[in-house]
Amino acid sequence: MIKDKYLEKYVGQSRSAIMFFAGDQLIASNHSAEELQRRYGLDPCYLRQIAQNGKSSSTAGYQVRTNVVTIPTKEKESLHLSLCYRLLDQEEDVYSLTIRNLQHEEQLSAQERQHLLTRYVNRAHEKERQRISQDLHDSIAQGVYSAIMGVRRFTQGDLSPAEQQETSQAIEIQLQETLTEIKEMALDIRPAVLDSFGLVPAIKALAKRLQANSGVIINVLAVDEQAIQLTSDEQSVLYRVCQEAINNALRHAHPSEITVLLSNHPHVIQMQVLDDGDGFNLKKNAHFNGHSLGLMNMKERVTALNGVFEISSHPHEGTTLTVKFPLNTVR
Ligand SMILES: Nc1ncnc2c1ncn2[C@@H]1O[C@H](COP(=O)(O)OP(=O)(O)OP(=O)(O)O)[C@@H](O)[C@H]1O
Ligand SMILES: [Mg+2]
Repeated sequence: MIKDKYLEKYVGQSRSAIMFFAGDQLIASNHSAEELQRRYGLDPCYLRQIAQNGKSSSTAGYQVRTNVVTIPTKEKESLHLSLCYRLLDQEEDVYSLTIRNLQHEEQLSAQERQHLLTRYVNRAHEKERQRISQDLHDSIAQGVYSAIMGVRRFTQGDLSPAEQQETSQAIEIQLQETLTEIKEMALDIRPAVLDSFGLVPAIKALAKRLQANSGVIINVLAVDEQAIQLTSDEQSVLYRVCQEAINNALRHAHPSEITVLLSNHPHVIQMQVLDDGDGFNLKKNAHFNGHSLGLMNMKERVTALNGVFEISSHPHEGTTLTVKFPLNTVR
């Protein structure tokens, strides 16, 4: 049909990169899309996943997800892309992905991006300060206060030698516990091992500590540290996500085992945290409920660095959390 001929020509010559997917498979793409993959080494499936992370809307009855991302490249400049992921055929599971290079179009001003980033960083800092302040108040201050009470009893009271011994022991135990809590807080704020030895040893130390505290087996299976070419920001984010994911599993899932898997793939580095616990209903926890921040924070931290964040969970079947960062870009 003549209409199809012109449509094909328009899509083929479009400056926007256009791809079509059936399920997980790329089934067709135009010249600009091939150019984007060839020139920048971008994996179509990675682009599709970051598009899926975007804002959802419905246009003319079609389900659409849009996302704007900045991706570092081998060349000097970063790529600023607008992605539009559209459901074309529900039965056949066919989607289109249209990618516009915003640099060409100069649609996203540097000022606006800076503004968004500053807001994100400020919010993250504020939350961190709140948590430290709460820990200091609820745990450290209480411990010191109770040791002070012990000392008062010791000096003011009319205690028998046996009572004196008992009180001094209680004070020492209290101070030891407070000291342990201070050390754990210091580890939580910034694990020194992450800076000195890298991600894998830091995660192994974390797993060992949480296993000892909980009695739940926590395995860490990781590729050779040499192979992990992540920026220090990405390493911090993976560490934080791992910490929150293990804590979530321990707090909510009653698992018998938790496994952290770090692996290299052709285009991505992937971390998975799997537990064999109770699982949960993702839809129910998809929106902010006024107090639970863990899942939202993890997703926000990962997507702010252009990573992909996914969770799969079903009641009684455990939970798997996956984070991916692209590999073949020079950062
Ligand atoms: N691995 C898991 N297994 C079972 N349920 C989970 C798991 N991870 C999260 N959940 C469920 O999802 C909810 C939201 O998790 P989220 O980490 O956002 O909040 P939270 O752990 O309740 O609180 P916090 O803000 O302290 O992290 C949890 O309350 C829990 O019901
Ligand atoms: Mg949590």
